[in-house]
Amino acid sequence: MELRLKERLGRKFDEELRFFKGWIDGPKQVGAILPTSSVTARRMASVIDPASGLPVLELGPGTGIITKAILKRGIAPQNLVSIEYSTPFYHHLTRSFLGVNFINGDAFDLDATLASLKDTRFDCVISAIPLLSFPMERRIALLEDLLDRLPPGRPVIQITYSPVSPIVANPDRYRIKHYDFVMRNIPPAQLWTYSRG
Ligand SMILES: C[S@@+](CC[C@H](N)C(=O)[O-])C[C@H]1O[C@@H](n2cnc3c(N)ncnc32)[C@H](O)[C@@H]1O
Repeated sequence: MELRLKERLGRKFDEELRFFKGWIDGPKQVGAILPTSSVTARRMASVIDPASGLPVLELGPGTGIITKAILKRGIAPQNLVSIEYSTPFYHHLTRSFLGVNFINGDAFDLDATLASLKDTRFDCVISAIPLLSFPMERRIALLEDLLDRLPPGRPVIQITYSPVSPIVANPDRYRIKHYDFVMRNIPPAQLWTYSRG
């Protein structure tokens, strides 16, 4: 086997092992057993408007597969803010993606987690938080808080495995769109977007 392919497979295996270890430590927090596929990660990053000049907010980067896709979309590392709850994942991320503004904190407590970026407007939010592990009231509160930090019309994109939106409809408050269904993901992924205005 070609050496570079061997190296790549080795790295992929390391990443999956690291992810699985995270799952053993906190199955409900991590949500999935395997990292998101690069196809899904690219699809999620496609909602970013690199021309806006605004920073991007990522939630639940894990081992960084979506982080990588966000950077590849043309976002400078210093223009990416990424919140990860797990401290081992956080340390791995800060070593792997130099210059990205990782925050080791709770995405459900943005006032505290983003205290130093209180007045920052983000272009969009890319979220891999396992929403289904949390009660519906907390999911709605998180979405409302995120939308308050975006310009009107800009999306929060969320990955889930359920064919139903993980956040209930409330057309007076936000619009929900089924963005994509990605078969090349284990398990196949559903992508939902939420926006206002
Ligand atoms: C399903 S994994 C996704 C990881 C990676 N983005 C991917 O797609 O492979 C969920 C991630 O969200 C993180 N997480 C869970 N609850 C969180 C919270 N309240 N705040 C921030 N991150 C959280 C977990 O530690 C884990 O890294």
